[in-house]
Amino acid sequence: MRILGINGSPRIGGNTDILLDRVLEGARANNADTDKIILNNLKFSPCQECESVNNEGECVIKDDMHDLYKKIKDADVIALASPIFFGSLSAQTKIMVDRFQCLWRLKYILNKDTGYKRKKGVFVSVEGSDREDFFDNARSIVKNLFATINAEYTEELFCSKVDEKASILKHAGCLKKAFELGARLTRG
Ligand SMILES: Cc1cc2nc3c(=O)[nH]c(=O)nc-3n(C[C@H](O)[C@H](O)[C@H](O)COP(=O)(O)O)c2cc1C
Repeated sequence: MRILGINGSPRIGGNTDILLDRVLEGARANNADTDKIILNNLKFSPCQECESVNNEGECVIKDDMHDLYKKIKDADVIALASPIFFGSLSAQTKIMVDRFQCLWRLKYILNKDTGYKRKKGVFVSVEGSDREDFFDNARSIVKNLFATINAEYTEELFCSKVDEKASILKHAGCLKKAFELGARLTRG
């Protein structure tokens, strides 16, 4: 069981990072292999709506997204984590999502098999406020991504009222839920 955590926050050691780590710890405690990608550490461009694209579902821009495509393709579970920024996903996360347009085209326009392994997808997010509609916006985008990468949107974990760096450490309930979510990912 390979679980890929993707952190879309620029703040290393911040709330998203800590919460995602807790999910991955729960998975490792149940013998899963885990890997974590920090999008802010990758070099990749936003989608350029290229005029000439190939029909194999591969983006023609050559950058760090190509390693990530492969990891996402082969993972059994994707745990995507993003803070809420301006009522939506972080820019880092949204840029990654848009780079799946090539796969979306392969699947929904060309009606071809993408070759992406069937997987589970979970979405983890934090926000400074307590506005549920911000999570609604982010969830809607993540559901679109998950459908494209052949991931079933199985679970989500949202923690509100966490703003200062690492202040999520004071939210024992969220951390516990994250660990338990990670453990559940390894079952079935
Ligand atoms: C650019 C930016 C935009 C933000 N926008 C929102 C927002 O729309 N709603 C909200 O509740 N919190 C917002 N926040 C607060 C973050 O969601 C909050 O601080 C979160 O804990 C950051 O997570 P991190 O430590 O993983 O980066 C924003 C923070 C930043 C830096």
